[in-house]
Amino acid sequence: MGRKFIVGGNWKCNGTSEEVKKIVSTLNAAEVPSEDVVEVVVSPPFVFLPIVKSILRPDFHVAAQNCWVKKGGAYTGEVSAEMLVNLSIPWVILGHSERRALLAESNEFVGSKVAYALSQGLKVIACVGETLEQREAGSTLDVVAAQTKAIAEQIADWTNVVLAYEPVWAIGTGKVATPDQAQEVFAASTRIMYGGSVNGGNCRELAAKPDLDGFLVGGASLKPEFIDIIKSAE
Ligand code: G3P
Repeated sequence: MGRKFIVGGNWKCNGTSEEVKKIVSTLNAAEVPSEDVVEVVVSPPFVFLPIVKSILRPDFHVAAQNCWVKKGGAYTGEVSAEMLVNLSIPWVILGHSERRALLAESNEFVGSKVAYALSQGLKVIACVGETLEQREAGSTLDVVAAQTKAIAEQIADWTNVVLAYEPVWAIGTGKVATPDQAQEVFAASTRIMYGGSVNGGNCRELAAKPDLDGFLVGGASLKPEFIDIIKSAE
């Protein structure tokens, strides 16, 4: 069986409860391909997870944007994998480049987080990607390989992991990677999503690449064009 297409909406640190409800009602009304064709996962900020989960259509799923690296306890400000499981949140995004850059999450730390989240029964969208400087220095594949290896060293089973390749220079910049730049980094086994300035206008050309299994969308996931991106699975 082929790898099922997956489209994630990473809402990042955006939205009020009213805005979040509005996005959900737009998604709920959308006609999109069935769950057999495309898996849709939206990722609101932690505080909105319960409300989104309770009103979102049942064929769409929710993801947290992070979780702690080990069992909960005296870690002020953190949210544990156990808490997500307790609320029946099935997915978590880990290793996003914004967290790697702003919160100094290392490759090893992200690898440990992925391993712990999987051990608790969560499914993981694990993000990797190079900066512009690294790309210009010709080290894209080395950087992505090191990030992926740090995960591989801590897990044996990739069944519940989707890799999201998000070149940092393409995130929120409007500079999307060309389909060939994206394809160059993809491998054959695990599902791989592309993220970085995906929108309703460029998603179909990217989706045509054989090793691309979906998208992780930031800015456009807050807009109705997210529905066109889901439809690019067809
Ligand atoms: O996680 C998705 C993201 O980093 C891409 O953001 O706004 O370029 O689609 P954006």
